[in-house]
Amino acid sequence: MTFTPMIEARNVGKEVTLGQETLTILEGISLQVKVGETVALLGASGSGKSTLLGLLAGLDLPSAGEIFIHGHSLGALDEEGRARLRAEQIGFVFQSFLLLPTLTALENVMLPAELRGDRDAEPRARALLERVGLGERLHHLPARLSGGEQQRVAIARAFICQPALLLADEPTGNLDSKTGARIIELLFELNRQHGTTLVVVTHDPVLAGRCERRIEISAGRLLEQEVA
Ligand SMILES: Nc1ncnc2c1ncn2[C@@H]1O[C@H](COP(=O)(O)OP(=O)(O)OP(=O)(O)O)[C@@H](O)[C@H]1O
Ligand SMILES: [Mg+2]
Repeated sequence: MTFTPMIEARNVGKEVTLGQETLTILEGISLQVKVGETVALLGASGSGKSTLLGLLAGLDLPSAGEIFIHGHSLGALDEEGRARLRAEQIGFVFQSFLLLPTLTALENVMLPAELRGDRDAEPRARALLERVGLGERLHHLPARLSGGEQQRVAIARAFICQPALLLADEPTGNLDSKTGARIIELLFELNRQHGTTLVVVTHDPVLAGRCERRIEISAGRLLEQEVA
């Protein structure tokens, strides 16, 4: 029996042109992630981890190769189709959080659920913010939150639609070990309860160790690591 993987990347490359120069950021990336699998994406600063995560979310298109999310070719969809696929299936935690500055913590978390017409967006957003330890910060604007608090709001926002695939760029990067441990529990609870596939970029050995598989990227190329 065969199962459609949650992620399949075939020979993906990314180049950017800066003036006269063409810079190769990713090259020959082939990767499969099964439904429900948990994967840590490791690699030095500048190796291409965030770029790859953005391509997997369809936020940007590769210059070569093809990416399938649960069997859907991202390249075959237009911008609107990719946005719909993201809204339905993918939660994304950006390295820089990207919270909307004029919305409160609660409103930021509610937004993706409201956009798709969920009636219970507010109670769910409140419950999630409580789970990430921000029950007392619901009405703060991002500028009034610490870096780690903004990160937790971004994580709650990524969870609210119970995505089939969660792509998280250093989700514990700004957190102390206790808060980080709480976020790690939340990530794996989502995986256990809903079968959410997790791909996390991380330098955190605890988080990487909890994942079933670690893959490493070095200068834009993937080195497949051992299965734990
Ligand atoms: N739009 C762009 N134009 C030019 N260069 C870019 C662009 N985006 C990324 N890069 C370059 O591509 C390389 C990979 O960047 P990326 O952000 O993916 O690294 P990373 O592995 O996430 O690093 P970090 O651990 O520091 O977050 C870097 O050298 C970066 O300077
Ligand atoms: Mg990065």
